[in-house]
Amino acid sequence: MLIRPARRLRGRLRVPGDKSVSHRAAMLAALARGRTTITNFSSSADCSSTLEVLRRLGVPVGREGSTVRVEGVGADEGGRRFRQPSTGLDCGNSGTTMRLMAGVLAAQPFTSVLTGDESLSRRPMGRVMEPLGQMGARLSAVDGHAPLTVEGRCPLRPVRYEMPVASAQVKSCVLLAGLGAEGRTEVFEPAAQTRDHTERMLRWFGVEVRTKEMSDEAGRVCVSVEGGSRLTARDLVVPGDISSAAFPLAAAALLPGSELELEGVGLNPTRAAVLDALRGLGLELSVEDERETSNEPTGLIRVRGGDGLKSSAHGANVIRGPLVPQLIDELPVLAVVGTAVEGGLEIRDARELRVKESDRISATVTNLRAMGAEVEEFEDGLRVDGPVRLRGARVESYGDHRIAMAFAVAGLAAEGETEIEGAEECVAVSFPEFFPLLESLTER
Ligand code: S3P
Repeated sequence: MLIRPARRLRGRLRVPGDKSVSHRAAMLAALARGRTTITNFSSSADCSSTLEVLRRLGVPVGREGSTVRVEGVGADEGGRRFRQPSTGLDCGNSGTTMRLMAGVLAAQPFTSVLTGDESLSRRPMGRVMEPLGQMGARLSAVDGHAPLTVEGRCPLRPVRYEMPVASAQVKSCVLLAGLGAEGRTEVFEPAAQTRDHTERMLRWFGVEVRTKEMSDEAGRVCVSVEGGSRLTARDLVVPGDISSAAFPLAAAALLPGSELELEGVGLNPTRAAVLDALRGLGLELSVEDERETSNEPTGLIRVRGGDGLKSSAHGANVIRGPLVPQLIDELPVLAVVGTAVEGGLEIRDARELRVKESDRISATVTNLRAMGAEVEEFEDGLRVDGPVRLRGARVESYGDHRIAMAFAVAGLAAEGETEIEGAEECVAVSFPEFFPLLESLTER
């Protein structure tokens, strides 16, 4: 994909439905009793993988554009259950599909095999195998990697699980398995709290989810569900995906004179840290028209690109600590914005980036250097110097949608043209409309 420099971005837009919320909506609707209509369902290939896996388990799923209808099987009530699949369940590139479905399938009375593409087959699955094994399911994989075989057990044993990594996928996997356990399943988050879409969505479907803050020093959060809780079908609307919104927002930050309005964006506090981060780097950003949509806060985001970004009042800009899981998917594009910030930007405590769709630390460092930035790489992050004007270059997408989009944003702000290898093929994983949408906002 060839990216030409832009003068500024202008316009009003809607980003597609949130990917994390859409996965959960489809899975919980499948477990519920009755029919659920999901509006503004994500257009991502990842969420299509989830729908396809559910169909292969015998769940009737209909789709017309962004409207999805799911006939729930009421699997929690010991009545109709999922059908045992005859072949592997293909999760494509989607870690959320594989890890959350592993939790759902652990409580089914049959064996199933979850498979994925090359990138997903390199990602760690031990993190879900461990707790599901403690609950009595039998999981096997090749050295902790997909294909992942799940031999379910019905009912499962409840657990008190202390998560060793801050991962919403692991938390959600254990909670979903917990619905099929005999008793209460408790998950303790590490000091950093991860996105809480599963908890909100379970409540939407009528499940009582307890969240309590521990009195220990770290203020950890414990989330729990009671096994056998019933889910009742209930129509819902998915908010716009803030992780997709981050790309036009970052482009506006880099291009003075830009003015954007993004409607109906999800503003869940465990996801919206990217907005504070961009504000902290000097972007003029406001939120209006805040409302609640199916248990998730949403609003309109208005941004105005300024004349250069500044370091915070406290000196160096550093993103680290408990904040990291709350903007984990936005870190590559924030690193790109960091090159325009006086004093640069440092990102730490983000080792998890190395096990995403690509090694996002290495990919970001390599591409930024190819575009002329001064970057230091750490095991758990990176540091970019700023402000520097990026130079157009030939860079790699590494088959990773968020790397492709982050460097499309870099290309808009660079001097000269940028070629991103393999970008068209991979952006569909989360945001198929990305390139035409960006073009429609661009003024040259
Ligand atoms: C997700 C959680 C995060 C995030 C991913 C989606 C989710 O992954 O990076 O894009 O929907 O729960 P981890 O749970 O691995 O941190």
